[in-house]
Amino acid sequence: MKVLYEIAEIRKWRRKASGSVGFVPTMGYLHEGHIELVRRARAENKHVVVSIFVNPTQFGPQDDYATYPRDPERDQSLLKEEKVDAIFLPDADEIYPPQCSTWVDMDKVTGQLEGAFRPGHFRGVATVVAKLFNIVEPTRAYFGQKDAQQLVVIKKMVSDLNMNIAVVEVPTVREMDGLAMSSRNVHLDPDERDSAVVLYKALITALSLWEKGERKAEPIRREMTALIRSEPRATIDYVSVADAETLEELEEIDRTALVSLAVRIGKTRLIDNITLSRKRSPFTDNAVK
Ligand code: PAJ
Repeated sequence: MKVLYEIAEIRKWRRKASGSVGFVPTMGYLHEGHIELVRRARAENKHVVVSIFVNPTQFGPQDDYATYPRDPERDQSLLKEEKVDAIFLPDADEIYPPQCSTWVDMDKVTGQLEGAFRPGHFRGVATVVAKLFNIVEPTRAYFGQKDAQQLVVIKKMVSDLNMNIAVVEVPTVREMDGLAMSSRNVHLDPDERDSAVVLYKALITALSLWEKGERKAEPIRREMTALIRSEPRATIDYVSVADAETLEELEEIDRTALVSLAVRIGKTRLIDNITLSRKRSPFTDNAVK
């Protein structure tokens, strides 16, 4: 496994790699969710590249860039076990030299949900992912459904900018009690960790209402909100039932809906989601590990 720090090195590696290249962009501090993406990439491609880069431009001034967990040594040994071919581990100046002044800015799918609470977040995400795509030139790129809006944003960018890359969606990997795996879970103290399962419980509430035939979005939002409010350590940023493609809030659930939420447990902000659809299984994962 090669560990490469510079763009020139990864380009050189890429020139020699014939056949398909699977790419998994991450911010490191890897957990089973990331590893699932890597395994899919490993199974479907001749070569696999993983990037580890805590991207400063997707963090706002109030966000946790400085305290975002980092452990590149441990990440490297996990990726070695998964038989990854190359890790791209650039520093911030390599990706954003001082003269850099071009951004990928999108309307429509970036303003609501996460975008409303984290202004500029998706500009940072879309820009870094476009840059990484141009550097790595992958055949396929792997993203988790855990970050549902990010997936919508990346798919739209790839389509709008005619990028010749297949975006592959990977179901959310969860802990035994349903909590979605996240690098940020490490910040939860034991009591907060117990409280954090309320996000999953709220999604289950939505699913069971929908399965009983509820097709109005508001009662679903209301019940989810009431459940989360009953947890004293939880503060809601949003509870949303939206069109899964446009991310516009729904009144009637007459098409595939994305049920998503952002909740702060103490100081830690967590997000999760499920899809309600007659065609797709609701937890597109179903996988409670
Ligand atoms: P990061 O949060 O490290 O996540 C990297 C990838 O892992 C994303 O595609 C994310 O959706 C996926 N992932 C995270 N938790 C998961 C889980 N529990 N199950 C399945 N997949 C999961 O997302 C980012 O980094 C950044 O925004 C990035 C795309 C790298 C751009 O900087």
